[in-house]
Amino acid sequence: MTVRHFLTLNDLTPAELQQIMQRGIELKKMRKAGEIFEPLSNQTLAMIFEKSSTRTRISFEAGMTQLGGHALFLSSNDTQLGRGEPIEDSARVISSMVDGIMIRTFGHDIVETFAKHATVPVINALTDDFHPCQLLADMQTFQEHRGSIQGKTVTWVGDGNNMCNSYINAAVQYDFNLRIACPEGYDPNMDLVNLHKGRVEIVRNAFDAAENSDLIATDVWASMGQEEEQKLRERAFADYQVTAQIMQKANPDALFMHCLPAHRGEEVSAEVIDAKDSVVWDEAENRLHAQKALLEFLMSKI
Ligand code: CP
Ligand code: NVA
Repeated sequence: MTVRHFLTLNDLTPAELQQIMQRGIELKKMRKAGEIFEPLSNQTLAMIFEKSSTRTRISFEAGMTQLGGHALFLSSNDTQLGRGEPIEDSARVISSMVDGIMIRTFGHDIVETFAKHATVPVINALTDDFHPCQLLADMQTFQEHRGSIQGKTVTWVGDGNNMCNSYINAAVQYDFNLRIACPEGYDPNMDLVNLHKGRVEIVRNAFDAAENSDLIATDVWASMGQEEEQKLRERAFADYQVTAQIMQKANPDALFMHCLPAHRGEEVSAEVIDAKDSVVWDEAENRLHAQKALLEFLMSKI
């Protein structure tokens, strides 16, 4: 059987993504009902972290435990990867001992190289370019609160970063329209935008972009690795804070999402993130359920 990887949302078909979403919803109910379900018993997921994490680490680690398996936390600083062992060699060696590999790193080429040389599924847990696991959770959260996202309008406000690029992929895979409000110089991957013209559009003014939207999503102005640009970015993004005024432009039942961690008073006002249409806590919890569905899909041998 060929090994399947999950480096971007495009590694799964729209039908498979729907299947994983439904399964995530089901696994959530099973867990809340106290049902034990251990399809990954005796399996190990190696988790390589080259960047910090709260949600991703906890959801994958707890998820593997709940599925009957084990997760192994590997900080690149404490492994030979951090001392320059080639990615190709590391991928071969690690995959000879575990059943799946999760990586959070900088360049997207690193997860691609890893996947090319691994003999077990490789999951992208965030690169500089994409954060597909977060979109599994976001899509499940929208479904649970508002039903199908198909045909809806989503507005991304802020940096054209890894989350924004994954929202572009999601627009295609889950069939919704995406407006991106970002300042000039902070555009997402324009090859992706141009490839999906008509479905994905850049609208410089955040108020115009939010008009009649069903979901407003944002993320930090300075991502991991961009800490030194914080001050510069605060100036560049001054007109891109999601405020109650922006939410008022959207549809009356529009939801607010943020992958977290959030900076109240920067990319989002405290009023918006702590309001009732903000579903950020469900969104964070759904990382667990959605990724359990992904792990089952990629790793279950039953
Ligand atoms: N949203 C997200 O990936 O959070 P962490 O950085 O805490 O894992
Ligand atoms: N864009 C953010 C997402 C954090 C989950 C970052 O890359 O730091």
